[in-house]
Amino acid sequence: MTDRELVDLACGMRALAYAPYSGYRVGAALLCRDGSVVTGCNIENVSYGATICAERTALAKAISEGKTDFVKLAVCASGDAPASPCGICRQTISEFTSDDFEILCANEKGNYQVYTLAQLLPNAFALKGRGDDK
Ligand code: THU
Repeated sequence: MTDRELVDLACGMRALAYAPYSGYRVGAALLCRDGSVVTGCNIENVSYGATICAERTALAKAISEGKTDFVKLAVCASGDAPASPCGICRQTISEFTSDDFEILCANEKGNYQVYTLAQLLPNAFALKGRGDDK
C-alpha cells in the first residue's frame, strides 16, 4: 500500500460522510500492521456534540475488530487546505501509536503533506509519573 493509495482511499471516503450541518466532508484510511486498511468518515448529529470525526470512526472500527497496531493514517477533507486532525482525534491517535506515527493530511484534490504525531501533538499527555492516587 503506497501513501498515494492510502490518501486516495481516504479521499474516496468523503463520499460517505454524513455532514448535513457543516458541509465539511472528511474521510480517513487507517493502514493496519496486518496490511488491512480500515476506513472512516465523519458522522454528524443534530446534537452537534454527538458528532464523530472520520479519524475516530476509523480507529473505533479497527479497535473493535481487534486491530490495535497501526502503520499510518490518511485524512482527507473538503477544501483547498489539507485536513488537520482536531485535538480530540490527535489525542485518540496518540493512545494507539507513537511519536513517529505518520499522518497524511490531504485536501479534497488529494494533495497531501506528511506529519508525524509528534509534530501534531508535541508533549502529549501521559499518565506516567502522575497517577499518584492510583
Ligand atoms: N472533522 C473530522 O472528521 N475530523 C477532524 O479532525 C476535524 C473535524 C469533522 C467533524 C465535523 O463533522 C466536521 O468535520 C466539521 O467540524
